[in-house]
Amino acid sequence: MEVKIFMAQTVNGKIARETGEEDFLSPRNWQEFKKIAEKTGAFTVGRKTFQAVKEWEDKGFKDINAECIVLSQKEGLEVGEGFIKVSSPEKAVKLAEEKGLDALLVTGGASVNSSFMEKKMVDELILDIEPYVLGEGLDLFARRSFEGELGLEEVRKLEEGIVQLRYRL
Ligand SMILES: NC(=O)c1ccc[n+]([C@@H]2O[C@H](COP(=O)([O-])OP(=O)(O)OC[C@H]3O[C@@H](n4cnc5c(N)ncnc54)[C@H](OP(=O)(O)O)[C@@H]3O)[C@@H](O)[C@H]2O)c1
Repeated sequence: MEVKIFMAQTVNGKIARETGEEDFLSPRNWQEFKKIAEKTGAFTVGRKTFQAVKEWEDKGFKDINAECIVLSQKEGLEVGEGFIKVSSPEKAVKLAEEKGLDALLVTGGASVNSSFMEKKMVDELILDIEPYVLGEGLDLFARRSFEGELGLEEVRKLEEGIVQLRYRL
């Protein structure tokens, strides 16, 4: 099972404003996320990201033709039809395996990204670098104790000044 993270961020590593808005990110990143998620077959997001995206008017996880796995330890949380809730990264991977898939895409937020990183479960990191700087905001990874060297595998220039980097862990 291959686990990959896909995230869009500013040049200085911010994935959202402190208020949770992602207005500084181009819609081009969503297209890229959709393409990678559908190719992978399943993606997992944290409960906070799931709830934030639900409030969006123009797009949502329902538009993605892939299994959407929501990570949460809240027992009574209802995620609704078409979504599956699990209580740990290991269970998200197991679920993808049970669906007959050989890969799982992890796509935020900061807390979930770090949960997979600290358990050394990530094989690939795909970053869309938006041509934007933001002094205050949420980082790509929540503060946890992990580190590691990355191997740069691919650099792609997308539209709207976005650079996509692919790293192997
Ligand atoms: N730029 C991008 O590409 C991008 C992508 C995704 C998200 N975002 C942004 O990221 C922000 C949210 O990030 P966040 O770090 O605050 O929250 P998050 O990672 O989306 O969600 C955190 C929640 O996920 C659950 N969780 C995390 N680790 C877990 C684990 N090991 N086991 C079980 N459940 C776990 C917990 O839910 P419970 O509290 O329910 O237990 C936790 O409170 C949003 O503003 C969103 O817009 C940006």
